[in-house]
Amino acid sequence: MITKVLQVSDSGNFSGEDIRNIQEAADVIRSGGLAAFPTETVYGLGGNALDADASRKIYAAKGRPSDNPLIAHVSCMEEITPIVSEIPEAGRKLAEAFWPGPMTLIFQKSEVVPYQTTGGLETVAVRMPSDPVAQELIRRAGVPIAAPSANTSGRPSPTKAGHVYEDLNGKIEVILDGGPVGIGVESTIVDVTEEVPTLLRPGAVTMEMLREVVGEVRIDPAIQGPPSKDLKPKAPGMKYRHYAPKADMTIVEGEAEQVIAKINAMAAEKIAEGKTVGIICTDETKDRYPRGIVESIGERARKETIAHNLYAVLRDFDGRGAEFIFSEGFSEDHLGQAIMNRLKKAAGYHILNL
Ligand code: TXA
Ligand code: MG
Repeated sequence: MITKVLQVSDSGNFSGEDIRNIQEAADVIRSGGLAAFPTETVYGLGGNALDADASRKIYAAKGRPSDNPLIAHVSCMEEITPIVSEIPEAGRKLAEAFWPGPMTLIFQKSEVVPYQTTGGLETVAVRMPSDPVAQELIRRAGVPIAAPSANTSGRPSPTKAGHVYEDLNGKIEVILDGGPVGIGVESTIVDVTEEVPTLLRPGAVTMEMLREVVGEVRIDPAIQGPPSKDLKPKAPGMKYRHYAPKADMTIVEGEAEQVIAKINAMAAEKIAEGKTVGIICTDETKDRYPRGIVESIGERARKETIAHNLYAVLRDFDGRGAEFIFSEGFSEDHLGQAIMNRLKKAAGYHILNL
């Protein structure tokens, strides 16, 4: 299959050509094919969420286990009614506060949503993205769009069209290239099917923001630590070793000066053994690491810059053949919860606490 890459402006001011390109991707999805597209979080790999065959194609293209359910993307509230059996109070409040935006809600599904899309579950994940290209594409497709992140299963999520091309060229019909995404980590997932809403995956809509709207929010214990037999995550996807770079990665946490010294010492040791070493630091510390491939992940003082660069840095180390990666750690409040959740997974929960 030849994968067409179609450019679109991501400003929301579409030219005639932008509209033709979005329509072409919408037609591909309407006729059962797959099109990748930008959202404000990461690029998605889209197919018709109501078509079991399209969902099967998504799993095949990603090499993803088919028990890992997909998120159905909609462009407005009217499109949600047919695919869910009810919208509980907490769900309505969260939708009003954060949609369109980087949040996914879990509802009881209706009969029209095939089990291939929900990985056999009675619930369906729904998200209303704010990205103008995503909005226009969903509207024109006229169906909810099932879209996991548009990466090969196990690789870091794609934050630009080039990442999608690396992973899925030849496997899907179209990639809509709307430039780099804004946020850079996947949406916050909240299960609202039970009395107390539960956070299943942290994202840019933070725990603090959720609590402000609905009061009590539980955290699925499975998102705090490594996968274990007794802790079955409620979001099946969270059990896989996601976001994995090829290198052996370690996060070093503690007081700044000690962290820098420890990373330099470990890097020196591996370099002496002839290994290729990557170091993930910040703008504030990048001049403190004399050896190894040193990449700043952003400004420690501005967490959104770190979320924005996180996956691109991990992919970059893969491309540069890093065998060991040492990363600074970050505080876990606000957006830091999502950042550390992804970094810890990438490191296989290999954390050194000084
Ligand atoms: O930001 C995002 O959410 C991106 C963009 C493309 O919208 N999508 C994304 O999809 O991250 P994916 O497939 O990579 O991650 C979806 C997660 C998985 O962990 C999956 O297990 C969980 O959502 N999920 C989906 N449906 C679920 C359900 N019914 N119950 C619990 N978890 C569910
Ligand atoms: Mg994913």
